Amino acid sequence: MAKAGNRQLGEAKKQKKDEFYTQLADINNELRHYEHHFKGKTVLCNCDDPRVSNFFHYFSYKFEDLGLKRLITTCYKNQERDLFSQNDSERAIWLEYNGDRNGNRIPDPEEIGIRFLKGDGDFRSAECIELLKQADIVVTNPPFSLFREYVAQLIQYGKKFIIIGNQNAINYKEIFPLIMQDKMWLGVRFNKRIGGKNMTFQVPADYPMRGTEMYEEDGKKYISVAGTGWFTNLDIKKRHEEFVFVRRYNPIDYPKYVNFDAIDVSKTADIPEDWYGMMGVPITFLDKYNPEQFEIIGQSLTLADMKVIKKLQGKAGGGPRFYVERDGKLVRLFDRIVIRRRK
Ligand SMILES: C[S@@+](CC[C@H](N)C(=O)[O-])C[C@H]1O[C@@H](n2cnc3c(N)ncnc32)[C@H](O)[C@@H]1O
Repeated sequence: MAKAGNRQLGEAKKQKKDEFYTQLADINNELRHYEHHFKGKTVLCNCDDPRVSNFFHYFSYKFEDLGLKRLITTCYKNQERDLFSQNDSERAIWLEYNGDRNGNRIPDPEEIGIRFLKGDGDFRSAECIELLKQADIVVTNPPFSLFREYVAQLIQYGKKFIIIGNQNAINYKEIFPLIMQDKMWLGVRFNKRIGGKNMTFQVPADYPMRGTEMYEEDGKKYISVAGTGWFTNLDIKKRHEEFVFVRRYNPIDYPKYVNFDAIDVSKTADIPEDWYGMMGVPITFLDKYNPEQFEIIGQSLTLADMKVIKKLQGKAGGGPRFYVERDGKLVRLFDRIVIRRRK
């Protein structure tokens, strides 16, 4: 296929991934760990068509239980006619809910203020940023392809957030420093199967059914996606759970890297109790990261010295990674996060 055709296909694929819709059960399961944060707060869901968004559903029905002050939801008006969240209305809208007024504890249409936006509801537009400024906590599943920009904007405006993202984002050069500086961390569920399934999203009707991770139920299509989970900057209990050490250091099981001064710990569970120097651990470590116990120093992507590898091998393709020597051969490892125990 011609390059332009490939690009188009890539773009279409990306846009389709932007249309993965979060299930109420997954929202419920995660947000119950944060309930105490919401009292008296304004919540914004800024990538959410209220007619289909379970985030709007969750917060409008839980408004009184959580003690919310205000719920704002903005709806993106897609230009593409065939996309899942395609609007009937010609214009993007935003919606405001200030709680139940008639005592039935249900968000009735007359209690929901619907307002029109001037533009298309892009979260980056000036009018959406105005709404962002009014919010305390932002909760949504943002478009996959705009994750970097989405997070950058939340940080720029100093907002608290609970959002869905993919594990790949951890390595982005815009995201990793935030994780390292404790400005963002993993939520409760991250890359975890529950009942045999990864987090599951409803997809547009024209989404091609492919692979074992897709299924159809009541005429709707769903996909469960490995590597997805929640990112947040709100405190959660999990973040303070002590890591329980079950191993001690020995030079055989914990070899030094050839191209960085640290030992390799190939499984998070094997972090040795008596090693206080630098160590490289798999990215899955972040799910066990307690900042009172450990400090994050960096990642192999920026710390690996590839000049050493080039000298030893004559070539060093594939981007920066740590290497160990095994049976006289150089072995290239997966991405690692470099950590150190706090004393
Ligand atoms: C991954 S979907 C999730 C939808 C909804 N938040 C949910 O979790 O069910 C991302 C949504 O963001 C919308 N979107 C795409 N680009 C956007 C933008 N620039 N600004 C705001 N919303 C956007 C898409 O139309 C889509 O509805």
